[in-house]
Order: sequence, then C-alpha cells, then structure tokens
Amino acid sequence: MKRRNFMRLAGGGVVAAATAGIAVGCAAGSGLPAQAVEAWDGPGQEAEPRRRALAYALTAPNPHNLQPWIADLREPGVITLLCDRERLLPETDPFGRQILIGHGAFLELLVIALAQQGLRADVALWPQGELPPQLQDWDRRPVARVRLLPGGVADPLFGQILRRHTPKVDFDTTRTVAAATLQALLAGVPAPRVQGGGTGDAQALPALRTLCRASAQVELLTPRTVMESVRLTRVGPREILQHRDGIAVNGAMPRIANALGLFDRSAPPAQGSAGYEHMMQRFDGHCASAMGFAWLATPGNSHSQQIEAGRAYVRMQLKASELGLGVHPMSQALQEFPEMAAHYEEAHRRLLGRPAPRGPGDATLQMFCRLGYPAAPVEAAPRRPLQALLLS
Ligand SMILES: Cc1cc2nc3c(=O)[nH]c(=O)nc-3n(C[C@H](O)[C@H](O)[C@H](O)COP(=O)(O)O)c2cc1C
Repeated sequence: MKRRNFMRLAGGGVVAAATAGIAVGCAAGSGLPAQAVEAWDGPGQEAEPRRRALAYALTAPNPHNLQPWIADLREPGVITLLCDRERLLPETDPFGRQILIGHGAFLELLVIALAQQGLRADVALWPQGELPPQLQDWDRRPVARVRLLPGGVADPLFGQILRRHTPKVDFDTTRTVAAATLQALLAGVPAPRVQGGGTGDAQALPALRTLCRASAQVELLTPRTVMESVRLTRVGPREILQHRDGIAVNGAMPRIANALGLFDRSAPPAQGSAGYEHMMQRFDGHCASAMGFAWLATPGNSHSQQIEAGRAYVRMQLKASELGLGVHPMSQALQEFPEMAAHYEEAHRRLLGRPAPRGPGDATLQMFCRLGYPAAPVEAAPRRPLQALLLS
C-alpha cells in the first residue's frame, strides 16, 4: 500500500503526496548545505590581513541577510566599503536605514578583526559625502574608507564573532531575563551617541509582545512588503546554495511542496490561507515567547547615526552570545512605510516616551529586539563567499 504523506501548502488546503521519491529526497534533515555556511568556519589559512578581517566582517547581521556590501581593495593598505545597490529593501526599508545599520555592523566586525591582527583601523565615514536621503538617489559614493595602521588592541568580543547567530526560534518561557543580565547586555552601548533601553519586567511584556504581533501582521497583510520577504525566500539546498543569502527555508514540508510546484511564491499569501497562517504562527511563537526586550535609539537619524547604531547593535549581539542570551530583532514596528505609521508612533511613545521623529534631528529608534533563551538549536545563516564582495 502506498504511504500517503499529508501536508499543508502555502496557498491553502491539504494534499496527499504519494510521490515517495520526492518525499524521501526532501526529508533528509533540515541542516543547511555545508558550503552555504562555510563562513562560520572562519578565514582558515588566509594570510592577507584585509581579506582575513573581511572574512569575519561578512558574518555581520543584516536585514533579510541580503549582505549588501562591496569591499574595494584596489588601494593598498585600505578597505573602501560601498553599498551594493542591487541589494536594497525599498518596500520595508524605504530610506535604507536598516541597510546602513547592517553596514555599521560590518564595519564594527571589520575593526575588531583587524585589531586581532594588531592593526588599528582608521575609519572615515562618507569620504565623498553622505549618500542622499532618498534611496532612488543613492550612487557609488563609498560608505567608509578604512585605513590600516599599526597598533590595534585586541577586543574581548572577538571570540564571539563566529558564535553569534540571530535566534529565529521560540524562547524558553520558563526562563526570565534577569536584571543583571540586561544590564550587562546594555552596558557597552556608547551613550549618548547611541542610547540603549530594555526590560525583562513581566508587567511590561504583554504590551510589547502585542506591538510586535500587530506590526508583523501589517507587514504580512501589505502585499508589496510581504512580497519582499517572499521573493527572498530560498527553499531547499539547491536554492540556498545558489544564492547563499535571503531567508533560508529547508524544512521537509516546504521542500516537498516546492518540489511538487505547490509552494506559490508568485503572489502574497491571502489572510486565512495556509501560507499566511504559517507565517503568522511563526510570529506568534516569537512574540509570545519574548521574555524581555532591548532597543537602541540615536539622538537623530543621519546616515552616520544609523551606522553608529549598527556598530552598537552587533556589539550587543556579541555580548549576548557571551552571556548565552538570544537577541532577535523584531523590526516591523520601526519600518517607515505608510501602513506602519501607527505602530511606528506607538513604538516611539512606549520605548522613548516621545512621538515618532518628524525629521532627521529627532530621536529615532534604530533597533527593537526580543530577548530570551532559545528553546531550540539556533542555525547559522548562509553567507556568500568573500570573493563575491571584493573589488580587487
Ligand atoms: C537592521 C536589522 C534588522 C533586522 N530585522 C529583523 C527582523 O525584523 N526579523 C528577523 O527575524 N531578523 C531581523 N534581523 C536579523 C537578520 O535577519 C539576520 O541578521 C540575518 O538573517 C543573518 O543572520 P545572522 O544574524 O544569524 O547571521 C535584522 C538585522 C538587522 C541588522
């Protein structure tokens, strides 16, 4: 008798897959292909200092794992960092704010990894002037020019770089986040340039969980913003290896559905469809198991301040890794597309006690993250090979 595998599909309904070959082929574990995650083994024998440091920097956290970095090595002793304009998120990040936070994280890891080799990094942001405010006007001007000088001092967080991962899993709801842990997490935030805040207070959590859930729902129900995620979803080993970026999905069920041509990525998942329910359930689990929250804000919202927030953010995540704590951004409420405006306003009022910024000189939330102790193993996310980022 044929074994029938029942599964829920992205577009809705339940089907029976009697295609045993596909089911067997797809069920073989959900670990990502080794080559896609080889960055987490470090630079190995690479001896050239800039390439060695860049091999660490490219593990930086960044929105949707787009890895929008180009490193120009054509000038000796210098790394010039540029933004890859093919790798932007115009719908959910219409001003490139989150993309530049990712650049800040990249720069910070670069500086730490150079220091580990005894090199001091002289970082000049925007050597040819800031990128313009509007994303469509962004051009080839560099984000930073990093000059290598002697005299770097090793950073105690270096050892966490290859251990750092973003925990996109539910947290253990039996474990609270102690005040001392929160304090240790936020102690390194470089106030007043970046201001850190946080809570593990059970009284404060429900409203913040609700804010995360409600804002996630807006992103999912706005067709053009959800499609930005859907288009960056890489299903199964072949797609994951081909792109080595985006949102890796490697569970058996989506792989089977995809192999059968039933994982519909051409249209937004309608409310009530199995695809929508699946995405919302994931958010529900993440929001409901948030055992604390941490956030970062800057006194204004210039591109340099966004970079500064990114540098502080990755240090916070490295510290979290040292503490065994999970820090997972829940960025929806901070996204600047019109449908999100009410949640953007609420986030600023709740976390900063002031209205949302009206201009680049107003205090701005840059990162909003859930905290907790992962209830399941946290996977490394793919990275493109170093060579793919280099201009040399
Ligand atoms: C500015 C910024 C915003 C982010 N927002 C989210 C988010 O809303 N939801 C999420 O699951 N991850 C978010 N992330 C985490 C990225 O998805 C993650 O860094 C990326 O997939 C690479 O994974 P890794 O950090 O484990 O290396 C964000 C990261 C950055 C830097």
